[in-house]
Amino acid sequence: MKKYLVIGNPIEHSMSPQIHNYWIKKNNLSATYEKEKLTAEGLKNLIFKIREKEIHGINVTVPFKKEIISYTDNLTPEAEKTKSVNTIFLNKNKIIGHNTDIEGFERSIYDCQFDITNKEILILGAGGVVPSIVLALNKMKASKIMISNRTKDKAEELKDLFEKLTILNWGDIPNFDMIINATSVGLKNSDEIGLDFSKINKNKFFYDVIYNPNETNFLKNAKKHGNKTENGKKMFIYQAAASFKIWHGIEPQINNDIINVLS
Ligand code: ATR
Repeated sequence: MKKYLVIGNPIEHSMSPQIHNYWIKKNNLSATYEKEKLTAEGLKNLIFKIREKEIHGINVTVPFKKEIISYTDNLTPEAEKTKSVNTIFLNKNKIIGHNTDIEGFERSIYDCQFDITNKEILILGAGGVVPSIVLALNKMKASKIMISNRTKDKAEELKDLFEKLTILNWGDIPNFDMIINATSVGLKNSDEIGLDFSKINKNKFFYDVIYNPNETNFLKNAKKHGNKTENGKKMFIYQAAASFKIWHGIEPQINNDIINVLS
């Protein structure tokens, strides 16, 4: 029986076990996938269980995506460029850190049939997932990527990874084609990010990385004002699918059942 884990702190909310266990069952694999809440202390011991083959793969979530890097032997180019790891596996006795959030975001955008080429994108937030989104947007040839974060210094730090970012003051609303909420504002139903829609024209694309709740106030208000919207559910499913493929060598089926697992 192979053992897989998602680790983070907090971890209660994680829906990765539901999705991976669904695919494990569908494919008749002899494996388990569980969630484990960790402290920074526990991180090191756990990673070494990968080398001992006690654990066969790990998904990493907030707040360890960066910290975990020091316990890996090698990073894939995606993890290296974003300094962010969400998937761990063993290859030729080396502990490899990889990032499937990039692929997750990219495939979710293709599903929306929104062409990023030459588009101006505004990202709200500068947390763990933002480097992956920026790399994906660069790959998809966005013409301009602007970042606005409540703590401006954290947005400025992203320039160490990506030179061409435009950093804005929190609350500034420039012209954009697509706006992405990558903050944690919206996780509670009552959360309001406080966008001034009088400054935003119609027919923009509003994307929220949050998928639970299904529709944040950010998306609800955007829809009311005549904009296209999408939540982060597909991104989450596709990042999980990419990890699954690495660990089991199987492309898992993505269908309505899997979307319902997360509803
Ligand atoms: P981490 O910062 O540990 O990577 P995260 O969940 O990935 O955690 O990121 C949280 C993001 O939501 C950050 O961009 C955070 O802004 P700060 O850098 O200023 O903390 C943003 N955020 C959280 N609460 C917010 C709020 N009430 N208003 C605006 N932004 C908020």
